[in-house]
Formats: sequence, structure tokens, C-alpha cells
Amino acid sequence: MGSPAANSSPPNSSPPSPPDRPADDTERVSLGGEWLQIRPIRPSDARAHREFVGRLSPADLRFRFFTAVHELPEEEITRLTSVDHITETAIIAIREASGETVGVVRLACLPGRREGEFAIVVQEDMQRKGLGTLLMRRLIGWARRHGLARMIGEVLAENAEMLKFASHLGFELHREPGAPDVVEARLALNGPAGPGGAG
Ligand SMILES: CC(C)(COP(=O)(O)OP(=O)(O)OC[C@H]1O[C@@H](n2cnc3c(N)ncnc32)[C@H](O)[C@@H]1OP(=O)(O)O)[C@@H](O)C(=O)NCCC(=O)NCCS
Repeated sequence: MGSPAANSSPPNSSPPSPPDRPADDTERVSLGGEWLQIRPIRPSDARAHREFVGRLSPADLRFRFFTAVHELPEEEITRLTSVDHITETAIIAIREASGETVGVVRLACLPGRREGEFAIVVQEDMQRKGLGTLLMRRLIGWARRHGLARMIGEVLAENAEMLKFASHLGFELHREPGAPDVVEARLALNGPAGPGGAG
């Protein structure tokens, strides 16, 4: 038997969570002296996502999107925020005090292969506080639970910070002959949980 409150709600309508009680898929973490919420992206995050992309530095934009364009077309923002969390997922970090999106990591499963391609970006004022590592570990946990054997990502060869970050997380770095500007970062997932952990 449900509680009186549950019985009085119409089917399929649960009350919105109050700000201090995140939904079940939300993790609350304290980083650099402030509270962040980490959770899967939702379509309603579109506006915050557009603003987040607008705040990225030209260098970070280029490292993430391989272009320095600050404004993505609306269809692209919709595509980035409306993911099914089955063939593709994206996990965001939200600054609790302001509601701003401050980081995102995503993984798109490659059709017919047990592989997913990842991408990550953390806004400048939140970098080097452990957020990228936290997001990437959560993504690695998602990939393992979804039975993927490998995660791969393309990194510009000049992106020394990301190459160091990826190798510390256990990714192997491969230079493709004929593509000197790009390094492929690869993480095998079918062994026991490695540095990426189970999270
Ligand atoms: C690469 C990137 C995602 C890393 O994010 P981040 O939040 O800075 O990552 P972390 O803070 O977890 O780790 C970065 C470094 O800071 C260190 N660090 C973590 N917490 C720290 C703290 N409290 N104080 C000082 N250093 C810290 C980490 O040890 C790590 O060092 P390492 O690379 O030598 O291992 C970020 O720099 C970024 O968004 N770059 C632009 C986009 C990009 O390049 N994307 C890659 C294309 S897919």
C-alpha cells in the first residue's frame, strides 16, 4: 500500500524535486568549495547548455569541437541535450548555486560495435579541481554497465592537458599514420575495473 501522498497523485505525475533534494540519478559533490550536481542530461537543459558553450574559451571550444564557433545551431543544441541514454549518453555537472552547466562528458555508441566515442569539456573556472576525472569515471561506469568493450576519443595532438588527463585515467594513446594532428585515446573496458573504476 502506498502513502496517502502517493495515492493522491494522478498516475505518472510525480512532484518536481525541491532544489535541495536532487532526483535519484543525481549525485551531489563538493568540489573547490562549492556544491555541484552530476546527472544525465535532459532536453530541458538545452538553454543552460547553449549558455555553457557560449562561456567556453576559444581554445577549449577548439579542443572539444575542433572549431572555435561559440554559437552552435539550435538543432545541434537539441541533438546534444536530447539523448536516449541507451545508444548515447551525456552526463553534466551543474553549479548548484546558479544552475549553470559547468561540464559535460558524452559517449556515443558506434553502431554494430561494442565501442563508444567519448568527448569531454569542463569550463575554464572549474578545471583542475577533479571535475573532469569525476565525470569521466562516471562515464566509464556507464559504458561498462552497457556492455561496451572499448571507449575511444579523438584528441588534438597539441592538447597536452587532455593527453595527460587521459593517460592518467588509463587510456592508451595512438597516433594514426597520416593524421599527425590527431591522437586517438583508447580505453579497454572488458577486463577488471581499472583506474576508471566502476563508478
Ligand atoms: C581535459 C579536461 C576535460 C580536464 O578537465 P578537468 O576538470 O580540468 O580535469 P581534472 O581536474 O579532473 O584533472 C586535470 C588535472 O588537474 C589535476 N587536479 C585535480 N584536482 C586538482 C586540484 N584540486 N588541484 C590541483 N590539481 C588538480 C589532476 O590531477 C589532473 O592532472 P593530470 O592531468 O596530471 O592527471 C579540461 O581541461 C577541458 O575541458 N579541456 C578542454 C576540452 C578538451 O580538451 N576536451 C578533450 C576533447 S575530447
